Amino acid sequence: MNNHDSTQEILRHYGDVDESSRLGVGWFQLEQARTQELILRHLPPAPATIIDAGGGAGAYACWLAAMGYQVHLIDPVPKHVEQARAASSRQPEHPLASAEVGDARRLPQADATADAVLLLGPLYHLIDREDRLACLREARRVLRPGGLLWVAGISRFASLFDSLSHGFFADPAFAPILARDLKEGQHRNSTGNPLYFTDAFFHKPDELSGELLAAGFQLMELVAIEGPGCLARDFDRWWNDPAQRERLLSVVRRVEREPSLLGASSHLMAIGRK
Ligand SMILES: C[S@@+](CC[C@H](N)C(=O)[O-])C[C@H]1O[C@@H](n2cnc3c(N)ncnc32)[C@H](O)[C@@H]1O
Repeated sequence: MNNHDSTQEILRHYGDVDESSRLGVGWFQLEQARTQELILRHLPPAPATIIDAGGGAGAYACWLAAMGYQVHLIDPVPKHVEQARAASSRQPEHPLASAEVGDARRLPQADATADAVLLLGPLYHLIDREDRLACLREARRVLRPGGLLWVAGISRFASLFDSLSHGFFADPAFAPILARDLKEGQHRNSTGNPLYFTDAFFHKPDELSGELLAAGFQLMELVAIEGPGCLARDFDRWWNDPAQRERLLSVVRRVEREPSLLGASSHLMAIGRK
């Protein structure tokens, strides 16, 4: 698929789903809480310059701007950029430094001008390894020496766990999609059902860390984002009780680096240093 086709597919998919409300529901709340703690674990204190490439509707970008960071958001979906600008205007004391339509493979920033780059989306949307490496090299270009990179990947096995727990494992239309996911990590959804996501690449843990290394980063961490937390029976009840939520987060943290569990997490986070 060429660049034009893949962008069209991304625009079509995000026309069907509302990315701006996603992180407020169910397991996505765990994804958000863990992503935030993994960012804060290494982020230098504000003020610092952060590029959120694939920043979607601005959930992390606006959260970071509210803490005093200079945050530039880039996303190829105009609807997301509009939503990010609207969210930014709701925090007039701490707006985004910028929010523009763009592509993580071609960042508008000059060389060595950013302290941190977030790629929490582009690496699973880019189905060709060369495009993923181009995106990582571009992040490296704009980072200052010592600057940090956070990269989210979807696990090779995420659609197996998801389909089993949500019940669409039984859908004959999903069977060939799952078979290809498991075989080569190349996710293709020609069913038209937005629940089955869009064209994507699903990483094995060592593939994600390998791509960071191939782009010239030093690997600081490779961890599970949700880990086994999504297995909690009656997740919402656990999540809505502060003490139970902390118990859940602490056990997820405890096993976040366990190599034999990494691929069982829906999302993986690799953190690199230039
Ligand atoms: C599931 S959303 C995640 C949004 C947000 N970063 C988060 O983690 O919640 C993935 C985002 O990646 C964006 N994206 C896809 N391909 C991209 C590319 N080549 N460059 C930049 N962003 C891209 C999509 O438009 C979408 O907004």
